[in-house]
Amino acid sequence: MKTERDDAGRGTRRASLNDEAERRAPQAMAWPGVGIIGAGAVGTALGVAISRAGWPVVAVASRDADRRERFCALVPGVRAFIEPAAVLDHAGLVILAVPDHAIAGIATQIKLRSGQALVHTSGALGAEVLGPAVAAEGTFAGLGAFHPLVSFTSDVERSVESLEGATFALDGDERLTELLADLVVAIGGTPLRLPRGSKAAYHAAAVLASGGLVALLDAIVTLGATAGLDERGSLAVYGRLMEQTLANARASGVAASLTGPVTRGDVGTIAAHIAVLESNAPGVVELYRALSRRQLRIVEERGSLAPNQVAAVRDVLAKGA
Ligand SMILES: NC(=O)c1ccc[n+]([C@@H]2O[C@H](COP(=O)([O-])OP(=O)(O)OC[C@H]3O[C@@H](n4cnc5c(N)ncnc54)[C@H](OP(=O)(O)O)[C@@H]3O)[C@@H](O)[C@H]2O)c1
Repeated sequence: MKTERDDAGRGTRRASLNDEAERRAPQAMAWPGVGIIGAGAVGTALGVAISRAGWPVVAVASRDADRRERFCALVPGVRAFIEPAAVLDHAGLVILAVPDHAIAGIATQIKLRSGQALVHTSGALGAEVLGPAVAAEGTFAGLGAFHPLVSFTSDVERSVESLEGATFALDGDERLTELLADLVVAIGGTPLRLPRGSKAAYHAAAVLASGGLVALLDAIVTLGATAGLDERGSLAVYGRLMEQTLANARASGVAASLTGPVTRGDVGTIAAHIAVLESNAPGVVELYRALSRRQLRIVEERGSLAPNQVAAVRDVLAKGA
């Protein structure tokens, strides 16, 4: 049975997980219902979104009484436990939403029964980290990973809203990823199946897109302060430029959106920048050099500067003013 969308565009689902299990993989799910281990930011938001999409969320585990209580208030019909292993007594699909460093340890504490599936929500780890949870060789148990590219906060409703349109990277067993793709669509997200072995690169790019952008903003705000702008002022002035650049990259491609002194081979301006950074914001010099070297790579690939101009820019970036 198919996932449908309601008037608000949110995924809804008429089929139970059991119907899906029967259609896709008769042995894939021992019990209907989703269980969640970890009632933190991700576990709670996913629990709420999955339940609202019509998939039964039957069990949750959290060691914290307040978090268990909050989860039960938000997800009707769920049973709450302290021990992760208890979730496996009730759920067919178990989502491990605990910090990355705790995933392998919990996988050794729980044992999947034939037909159960276990997935984690880490962006950095592959599905294989869950291997110890497979009880015995030959026992069918689906292992996977299900990573929402969303920055979750302690505000549950905001986090649930942010799942709408979010990309979920899926990896793991084939039949399980098909089921996970249905689940992602049901909660309003977009599934993305990653080629085997590519997860670390995918996640590193995500870290640059979010944390890297924040680090860049921090450097921009530092420099803006020397120009008399407070943080709000810098975000207004440079934020607009950043948005225009992103729009240009979307419209014309990344390489075509590059402008500035590196593209012109303007070594005098680059030297002046490095000099002013060294005296006013020394902590930003290395970042400026590294990003300028990356720009020079783009310029070289575009072939828009003569080799001697490229060499001059490389030289000034190495030596500075
Ligand atoms: N935060 C994000 O923006 C984000 C985005 C995408 C993916 N993720 C991934 O989602 C996963 C969970 O992240 P989160 O932000 O939800 O973490 P979190 O808010 O810190 O919540 C983690 C949950 O796991 C429980 N837990 C922690 N250590 C445990 C252990 N040793 N044994 C059993 N339970 C343990 C916590 O404690 P209690 O048992 O006390 O409740 C809590 O309920 C991570 O793999 C993370 O990489 C996070």
